[in-house]
Amino acid sequence: MSLTPIGAPRHKVTVSSLREKKLQHESITCLTAYDYSGARLVDEAGIDMVLVGDSLAMTMLGHENTLSVTVDEMLHHVKAVRRGVKDALLIADMPYGSYHVDSKDAVRNAARFVKEGGAEMVKMEGGEKRVDVIRHVIDAEIPVAGHIGLTPQSLNRMGGFKVQGKTLTDIEQLMRDATSLDRAGVACIFLEGIPREVAEMISGEVSAPTIGIGAGPGCDGQVLVFHDILNLTFGPPAKFVRRYADIAAEITHALQAFRADVISHQYPADSESYHLSAETRQSLEHLLERKRNMRNRRPVAVE
Ligand code: KIV
Repeated sequence: MSLTPIGAPRHKVTVSSLREKKLQHESITCLTAYDYSGARLVDEAGIDMVLVGDSLAMTMLGHENTLSVTVDEMLHHVKAVRRGVKDALLIADMPYGSYHVDSKDAVRNAARFVKEGGAEMVKMEGGEKRVDVIRHVIDAEIPVAGHIGLTPQSLNRMGGFKVQGKTLTDIEQLMRDATSLDRAGVACIFLEGIPREVAEMISGEVSAPTIGIGAGPGCDGQVLVFHDILNLTFGPPAKFVRRYADIAAEITHALQAFRADVISHQYPADSESYHLSAETRQSLEHLLERKRNMRNRRPVAVE
């Protein structure tokens, strides 16, 4: 196994390097990012794939779910992330409605993410029933990531964010979904919210790398949401989320300290202020002095 040491120079991640990782049993890492600064941090941390997820509808835009976000809104974020990503592979999530009408529409929207946003792959939710559309997008030279299991864009059909693949019938369907995506030539398959045993079975069956979220350790890689691992979501985390930092607490502390410093005149200090040159300062003092003298001069009485 050849693990790239943290901090070592690395190569551009590509569709084929992801496949190679699967073959070499090297775990693939993926995180979401939604803006330039987040993207730079994720990329520079050595993460393999940066996903501009439609989860930004919730994390960045404050919506209840992902359904309302549009292609134009997604593109706005993909462009910002593009400017921050160097080596990681950039995936744009196709939002709900952007590939559900027909294949032409799907290809047109996917091509916008590539041409306007600089994405190197697009992600679409759904298995067997999306295979036709996905084939058209792949035929248009756009790598596609599949996404099955708990697919948030199916929220209304699923009746909530529920773990999928718990019955034998559902497991068989998931397996058909995964193998049909694999045969269609997807570059990787996101497995969300399914029992670890099912995810492990799928991962062993398909040639495309599987990227799990709430799908246990048997996947070829793992993805988490940037805001979840940093505690920026204002709510209790899902079972599968591991919090690596409490950035909300850090930010709150900093904001409160700023407020206290301004109120108590501790900020800004002299060292945080710009200064005039000694010469200009002296000239200014003379000028002010002259003005003061003129103001203080007694008015002359008129007879
Ligand atoms: O939108 C998103 O962030 C996602 C990941 C959770 C896989 O689709």
